[in-house]
Amino acid sequence: MGFPEIRPRRLRGSEPLRRLVGETTVAPRELVLPMFVKEGLAEPRPVSSLPGVVQHSRESLRKAAADAVQAGVGGLMIFGVPATRDPDGSGATDPDGILNVAIRDVVEEVGGATVVMGDLCLDEFTSHGHCGVLAPDGSVDNDATLARYADMAVAQAAAGVHVVGLSGMMDGQVGVVRAALDRAGHPDTVILAYAVKYASAFYGPFREAVESALVGDRRTYQQDPGNVREALREVALDVAEGADIVMVKPALPYLDVLAAVASTVDIPVAAYQVSGEYAMVEAAAANGWLDRERTILETLTSIRRAGAQIILTYWAVEAARLLRR
Ligand code: PBG
Repeated sequence: MGFPEIRPRRLRGSEPLRRLVGETTVAPRELVLPMFVKEGLAEPRPVSSLPGVVQHSRESLRKAAADAVQAGVGGLMIFGVPATRDPDGSGATDPDGILNVAIRDVVEEVGGATVVMGDLCLDEFTSHGHCGVLAPDGSVDNDATLARYADMAVAQAAAGVHVVGLSGMMDGQVGVVRAALDRAGHPDTVILAYAVKYASAFYGPFREAVESALVGDRRTYQQDPGNVREALREVALDVAEGADIVMVKPALPYLDVLAAVASTVDIPVAAYQVSGEYAMVEAAAANGWLDRERTILETLTSIRRAGAQIILTYWAVEAARLLRR
């Protein structure tokens, strides 16, 4: 009797065997593409820290949305970049504001074939760049912000959005938005809650993409990277308030948090592979330091394996194509 008799390698011996015993797969329908649209642009404009990502014009957004749906992605998350900003972020609730008109455009273009999501947060619209409105002392006023989020949700729902993505991290935001949507006759609008959102350095390139005006940081409302119990508390509150899907963000540096969240809730769990995660791989690949395609698929597989059913990623279209090959 030779040793060893138990040989795990036996199951890795051929591609068909590996395929048969594979535990985790990523499907195009599980990927959501974040997209930026800027008011007044005639042509799409590249975002330098996110190679391959652009700020769209209204026209190019429509076309890119159709291409993404064609590639098989499961949904689109739209972020608006207004031409002007003010302290209350009034563009967010204006029916003619860039995000609301873009939602209308995309719903008209592909609304029957995909899930159209809108970012629900004030940071792209405020002149100070915070996710909420400010109190006289300059702090972010939680409850005054909730009233703005309620109006923003109703404006997006009126524009036809299927899912509102609550990314502002205000206490009580899910409950307030749910009640406002129901009251306004939009009981079927889905709430994707960024239940767990860390105050992360990985959002750097996104802030270029939305031309964020933020000075300072978001540590009074986003979470401390070292905390996981706090993440579970945030998730429990959002579920109790009526969240339909909960999200963890960023993804790769927080896979343990993602696994913990996935094991505690029975609603779908999403993860956001954020701008810095994308930029990091793109920069290394551009230097020839990483095999770009293999790295992209490995990161997505890892996020899926940790428990995310849905992944927001700037590689959604490309990954969908790679996965179909
Ligand atoms: C806030 C928001 C942010 C991101 C998504 N929604 C920025 C922030 O909190 O500073 C970051 C996404 C990314 O980095 O890709 N509206």
